[in-house]
Amino acid sequence: MEEEIQHKRPIRSFVRRTGRLTPSQQKALQELWPRFGLEYSGAALDLEAIFGRTAPIILEIGFGNGETLVQQAAENPDKNYLGIEVHEPGVGHCLLKARDAGVDNLRLLMHDAIDVLTCQIPIASLSRVNLYFPDPWPKKRHHKRRIVQDSFLQLVADCLGDGGTLNIATDWADYREHIDEALSRSERFSCTERREHIGELPLDRPQTKFERRGLKRGYRICDWRFTRSISN
Ligand SMILES: C[S@@+](CC[C@H](N)C(=O)[O-])C[C@H]1O[C@@H](n2cnc3c(N)ncnc32)[C@H](O)[C@@H]1O
Repeated sequence: MEEEIQHKRPIRSFVRRTGRLTPSQQKALQELWPRFGLEYSGAALDLEAIFGRTAPIILEIGFGNGETLVQQAAENPDKNYLGIEVHEPGVGHCLLKARDAGVDNLRLLMHDAIDVLTCQIPIASLSRVNLYFPDPWPKKRHHKRRIVQDSFLQLVADCLGDGGTLNIATDWADYREHIDEALSRSERFSCTERREHIGELPLDRPQTKFERRGLKRGYRICDWRFTRSISN
């Protein structure tokens, strides 16, 4: 029993890939991280102090190479953007894009989004959470690794303010069903928009790298907007 407890590790929605950093990504992590990066401390973030102003805050979970995130931050200077990603080369790439775009309304965290949502994002502090093309974990025995789970939806609902939205997109048919089921079970969200398309109807977002890859393979995209219920 003791042995069992000692070896029990949390189920993560990612595996740390040892992707090689390019020299420019390495340099970006050294030189630009202090400007855009937030260290994981486990303590709640003072988001107003971090951004130096009060404005709607949009969180993107698993931003990949960050191009979509930087584009949104550049196009919406009146909003604050937070991005979470565990893949170091992706974070390095995002830092370079953020510097080139000259954005000042973007901060990044390089840590498991579940821990960040649990410990660092204050209750009701976000106006929107974007989850674009989460890893599909296609094998049945890996479905428990999918980030969309009942517990994840509770965490996101806690972090969103009244009327805040969770925007999800996937190109994986079986994950689409999983998301439809999980969200229809949730009393904390209602589906306010749902679109199936082949790349021409993204819901209020730029196209992402993984989306382009899926479209080349002939996959259909599903986009949803779930609105956090006001009553709970
Ligand atoms: C399939 S990729 C999609 C990337 C990007 N959103 C896009 O559409 O191009 C999923 C990303 O989520 C990240 N990810 C998965 N679980 C995560 C977690 N718990 N916390 C932070 N990032 C996570 C992975 O490292 C990966 O880069």
